Amino acid sequence: MPLTIGVPREVFPGEKRVATVPDVVEKLIKLGFSVAVESGAGDAANFSDDTYRAAGAQIIDNAAKLWASSDIVFKVRGPNSDEVAMMREGGTLISFIWPAQNPELMKQLAAKKTTVLAIDSLPRTLSRAQKMDALTSQAGVAGYRAVIEAANAFGRFFSGQVTAAGKVPPAKVFIAGAGVAGLAAIGTAAGLGAIVRANDTRAEVADQVVSLGGEFVKVDYEEEGSGGGGYAKVMSEGFQKAQREMYAKQAKEVDIIITTALIPGKPAPKLITAEMVMSMKPGSVIVDMAAEQGGNCELTEPGQVVVKHGVTIVGYTDLVSRLSKQSSTLYSNNLLRLTEELCKTKDGVINVNMEDDAIRGLTVIKNGEVTWPPPAPKLPAAPPAAKPAAVAPAAKGHGHGAASEPASGSRIAVLFGVAAALFWLIGAFAPAAFLGHFTVFVLACFVGYMVVWNVKPSLHTPLMSVTNAISSIIAIGALVQIAPPLSAGIERPGDLIRWLAVVGIVLTSINMFGGFAVTRRMLAMFRK
Ligand code: NAI
Repeated sequence: MPLTIGVPREVFPGEKRVATVPDVVEKLIKLGFSVAVESGAGDAANFSDDTYRAAGAQIIDNAAKLWASSDIVFKVRGPNSDEVAMMREGGTLISFIWPAQNPELMKQLAAKKTTVLAIDSLPRTLSRAQKMDALTSQAGVAGYRAVIEAANAFGRFFSGQVTAAGKVPPAKVFIAGAGVAGLAAIGTAAGLGAIVRANDTRAEVADQVVSLGGEFVKVDYEEEGSGGGGYAKVMSEGFQKAQREMYAKQAKEVDIIITTALIPGKPAPKLITAEMVMSMKPGSVIVDMAAEQGGNCELTEPGQVVVKHGVTIVGYTDLVSRLSKQSSTLYSNNLLRLTEELCKTKDGVINVNMEDDAIRGLTVIKNGEVTWPPPAPKLPAAPPAAKPAAVAPAAKGHGHGAASEPASGSRIAVLFGVAAALFWLIGAFAPAAFLGHFTVFVLACFVGYMVVWNVKPSLHTPLMSVTNAISSIIAIGALVQIAPPLSAGIERPGDLIRWLAVVGIVLTSINMFGGFAVTRRMLAMFRK
């Protein structure tokens, strides 16, 4: 029987987002679900009950009824204890949860035998998970809004202008931290015409900064800043000192500083000191996006806008909610993509497939059993170094481990034997011309296998583009087959071969032009 997806009104003070917008309601209904929305759920994001009704949703006038009638609940913020109490026993919840920070909530949800998919626990390095990545979509909105807040508090134009009334220099913006929010801020500020500079401890983001129209400012100190998985690590004292000197210099030169530096699970690094604020020009602006985690600036007051030493310091912690229509639309698209993954049969029933890496990572409770944290991904971003000394005693102590080794070894030996026999048969009976091609084919398979499995998952998308381009070389072979022979005496291939070559050319053309189109779309995402 098709399930009902329920969308309650967010109750967290100041939260203006809604988990599902009317456009997505229509698409969920096409997937076979019925959708119920609590009256007023979309009001703060400018989606009225009538627009939900028109999209096919049923409007329910109070929260208790909504929670009780929903098999699956879509939410933005994790539920409070009143909401958990209203939830159906054995129901499913999809929302932000932050399981590490909310052990009590996890206990309450587990006690209700629920299944919980925490959108914040999505394995972000899986390229196929990008469409469901709500952390990214929401941080992008926050980065954009941070620039708009800065522009609002700043007394001048962003772009340089030459007018009859005088020349206006462009505003100079410095962005500290070029993660998702920082990159969105760089693109927005550059789009408004400002001169944008940015710094991050992870050197690998320098190219992204430049591609969005910014200039990457390096700290004059050699140290690798990447802590793996796209996140930073805490830097050495020496690096921090060099970084402070560079930031102090920037503070004197620029008009606006937007700080987004954060290492997950750590308090925000203090990058902008009180002296740096004092050294800024009067009328300058700081937007501290890390305000909720203690702030990157010493003088930030979370949730407030304050003016200190003539500098406006914006410490809003609800930047995403300040653009609620946009953030709700993106969030609800993330949830739609997730629902498509959960309901591949399009019959309004979900399958929480724990064999799927993305779904496994998201699922923090399954039928009341806490499944968080997930096991390490099958394809680690960087293969861990073997530790023979640590492994040896474990194998000795565990009979099971020791027994399974020879078992898998003998399986490999059998497979090897079968393959060798097959190769012998082919070598003995196949024509000589075939044998040459076959050798190349086997070597190509081997090299391809080794290359693909040794590439980091985060690089699979560019790898696909390259292999796509390389595979298009088939077109040359096919063209040779259908072209008339270059000199007399060379036999033309038979009709069947030529028709196969035509099919090859058609398929390769699709591959080539499709590859270019996809690459163009990927690049367009980085253009202003
Ligand atoms: P992210 O993890 O993608 O980016 C953080 C960046 O800071 C990373 O690139 C990291 O390398 C860099 N970083 C860490 N330590 C650094 C240091 N010492 N110096 C320079 N760079 C450093 O995180 P995301 O999603 O971009 O979020 C950024 C911040 O914005 C977070 O604090 C987040 O909580 C906050 N945020 C605030 C919102 C608001 O309403 N105020 C809304 C959304 C996000």
